[in-house]
Amino acid sequence: MAEDTLTTTDTLTIRDNRTGEEVEIPVVDGTIHATELRKLGLMSYDPAFLNTASTRSSITYIDGDAGILRYRGYPIEQLAEDASFLEIAWLLFEGELPTKEQLEAWQDEVRLHTYVHTNVTQFLDGFRHDAHPMGMLLGATAALSTFYPDAKEIGDEESRRLQRVRLIAKFPTIAAWVFRHSRGLPYVFPRNDLDYIGNFVNMTFEIGGRHEPNPVLQRALEILLILHADHEQNCSTNAVRGVGSSQVDPFSAVSAGIAALYGPLHGGANEAVLRMLDEIGDVKNVPAFIEGVKKRERLLMGFGHRVYKNYDPRAKLIKRVADDVFAQTGLDPKLEIALELERIALEDDFFVERKLYPNVDFYSGIIYRAMGYPTDYFTVLFALGRLPGWLAQWEEMLEDPEQKIARPRQVYTGYDERDFVPLDQR
Ligand code: CMC
Repeated sequence: MAEDTLTTTDTLTIRDNRTGEEVEIPVVDGTIHATELRKLGLMSYDPAFLNTASTRSSITYIDGDAGILRYRGYPIEQLAEDASFLEIAWLLFEGELPTKEQLEAWQDEVRLHTYVHTNVTQFLDGFRHDAHPMGMLLGATAALSTFYPDAKEIGDEESRRLQRVRLIAKFPTIAAWVFRHSRGLPYVFPRNDLDYIGNFVNMTFEIGGRHEPNPVLQRALEILLILHADHEQNCSTNAVRGVGSSQVDPFSAVSAGIAALYGPLHGGANEAVLRMLDEIGDVKNVPAFIEGVKKRERLLMGFGHRVYKNYDPRAKLIKRVADDVFAQTGLDPKLEIALELERIALEDDFFVERKLYPNVDFYSGIIYRAMGYPTDYFTVLFALGRLPGWLAQWEEMLEDPEQKIARPRQVYTGYDERDFVPLDQR
């Protein structure tokens, strides 16, 4: 609601009891503007953004209490049922679903940009054989900015669009090569007769010129990527927006997002869940593990969320994908442990009181493993899914006249001024 349409009740009166001073400030969309507090000489203090909106956004809607997730108004359940990943990317960028012609043109455009400069293979070769795939993805994505100096033209809408296409098209190539590098396999070049997911899977798994595609597994992967495509102001998106607000090129901004996603409290949780399940080892060890979590010795990885205080709708959909995948690959014994962890946790007061439910990462790792991806590669798949969201949010940030360079304030808690002490007197 615009400020000039406010009624008199759309305000908040704040009384400073130290001085008796009162100010009336507008309430817009359930928020107050933190700068209004300056009228009282105050700042708001909100480490970790627990109750601070950093932007207006029309991309993704989440109702964490009701377990609702929508991209551009469309429920995630419907998008995961019918849409393709590139369709979702278009939807996130453009705000509307593509027409048939738009989708075909978009797919063709992406196909035209799947190759990366061969020098990229050389610096990927420079990584150690056991380098973490996320470290490689992060470095290679940042390095792309040196191949496309025109990406600095972030004020030019057409240039931004081109960089977006480049990133969407080249990311699967780099992600697949990172996988090949970890396995000591030669890089497989993009095949532009295949679709987006088919080409990615082929570049990862082809051996000796052959790969038999499994359409069920490919669709399962596509659904997982769709479920990860955006999630409003999460840690990595905030990193892309924050770094992008300095007006750096999008390759550098996206690499900041990859770095944030790498962490075990964010995208790295899918990897951490599998390591946790490996450590638990057997269903009979689940109760003791849960006791350890309640004693605060451990976190139950893949549980809890800053926004969802209900079952993560993505986790619900992922359980369905798991059924399709395991029907093809056979059951993973780790699934039994995960189901038992979930069963106990959902009944236990510790988790119920704190509204801790499985999040998107609880089951995704088990599925990725069944598809043949190694544990340390899972977060790369998350990044592949999240890329359209990062780019859509980056674009929205640049076009938003309210945004400036992201630069929080602080409450200084250090020394007052004191005199320097020369080295020989300390
Ligand atoms: N296991 C045990 N206790 C937990 C967990 C957990 N996974 N998550 C939260 N809690 C407890 C926490 O100790 C706190 O208890 P108390 O109020 O008694 O101190 C309470 O629940 C509230 O948690 P919080 O840490 O204040 O919540 P947050 O919003 O700061 O953190 C989170 C959200 C996702 C970082 C956290 O739930 C967590 O660390 N989960 C495990 C890691 C994980 O699965 N991350 C993936 C998130 S979803 C995908 C993504 O974003 O990438």
